[in-house]
Amino acid sequence: MRTRIYQKLQAVAPLLLLALLLSGCGGAYPQSSIDPATDFADTIHSLYVQIFWWTMLILALVWGVLAYILVRFRERPDAPRPKQTHGHLGLEVAWTIGPALIVVAIAIPTIQAVFATQSEPDEDPVRIEVVGHRFWWEFRYPESGVVTANELHVPVGRPVSLRLHSADVIHSFWVPRLGGKRDVNPVVAAPEGENPDYTWLRFTVRDTGTYSGQCAEFCGTAHSLMGIRVVAQTPREFRRWEEAWQTPSPTAVPAGPEAQETESAPDTAAQPPASPEEDLIARGRDVFHNQSFCVACHAINGTNAQGVLGPNLTRLGARSTIGAGLLENTPENLARWIRDPRAFKPGAEMPGVDHEGGGWPATGLTDEQVRALAAYLSSLN
Ligand code: CUA
Repeated sequence: MRTRIYQKLQAVAPLLLLALLLSGCGGAYPQSSIDPATDFADTIHSLYVQIFWWTMLILALVWGVLAYILVRFRERPDAPRPKQTHGHLGLEVAWTIGPALIVVAIAIPTIQAVFATQSEPDEDPVRIEVVGHRFWWEFRYPESGVVTANELHVPVGRPVSLRLHSADVIHSFWVPRLGGKRDVNPVVAAPEGENPDYTWLRFTVRDTGTYSGQCAEFCGTAHSLMGIRVVAQTPREFRRWEEAWQTPSPTAVPAGPEAQETESAPDTAAQPPASPEEDLIARGRDVFHNQSFCVACHAINGTNAQGVLGPNLTRLGARSTIGAGLLENTPENLARWIRDPRAFKPGAEMPGVDHEGGGWPATGLTDEQVRALAAYLSSLN
């Protein structure tokens, strides 16, 4: 009975193994590190391929010799006792020098890759400052004044130079298709004449598209929920995206002072009545700007909201996700997030309707106010 089970197992074992191997093939892998999309990732990938073939060569050699020995010196009834050898100078020298040469052969391209990926680009790069926060990413563009969160926009075909540091603990910036991991360290004030502890990441993206990444250094409860999306655009689209930030969203502030005056004037009938949608947005704007808890942490360009502790919400409506890649950016999801951020992201430093957060007590907002806030924020596109 037992032997029959073993026989059956022996028959299916290769099939199971094959299924396991094949399960690694196919499908979409947006965070694959063997599908390079930048010069930086190409350098790393070519190094990986070189080392892969070195190891394949060693594997073939070792298994070849092993197979030869197993066959040649196998136990046979009439086989003579093989020659017994104790120590062999030639062999010992060979297996010391051989691996040493292989290590040197691997070290040369590795060191070249290290220098290549650390050097300043020749062409004038787009300079972007990356700040890691628990548990989201801030992207600042010093040249255009854009400050945004979690969605990094870059042009294709032009070098991008990221200067990275953290506002709290150590994070790690990793978008596998664009380049290697980079530690994101808290910058301690450096002594006179010394550079603070910034890290750098420089690459040129080839094709337009969205590339996803992830914080790669354990930084607390929501470490795994600290996603990154890189949107690579044509230079023209990128310029348009940057320009959009120079003017506030039309709904960010109430219509101009004249409009307000006519509104309070007796002949309001001359003004077209606000649609229910506009009305909701206006109420959300009121909640956002007149309650201390929103503006204490968040900024919206072109308004008085200038908080810097949380993500900048200018043009939030144009982002594809909220909560660092957690939820699709819809008014419904925004409302769910505002109601209870910790239900989605434990440790989020933002108060909810019923719980404190970031040093603020629960907001106690009504459902109506939450819906209005979400409508206002979604309108900022
Ligand atoms: Cu930030 Cu892990």
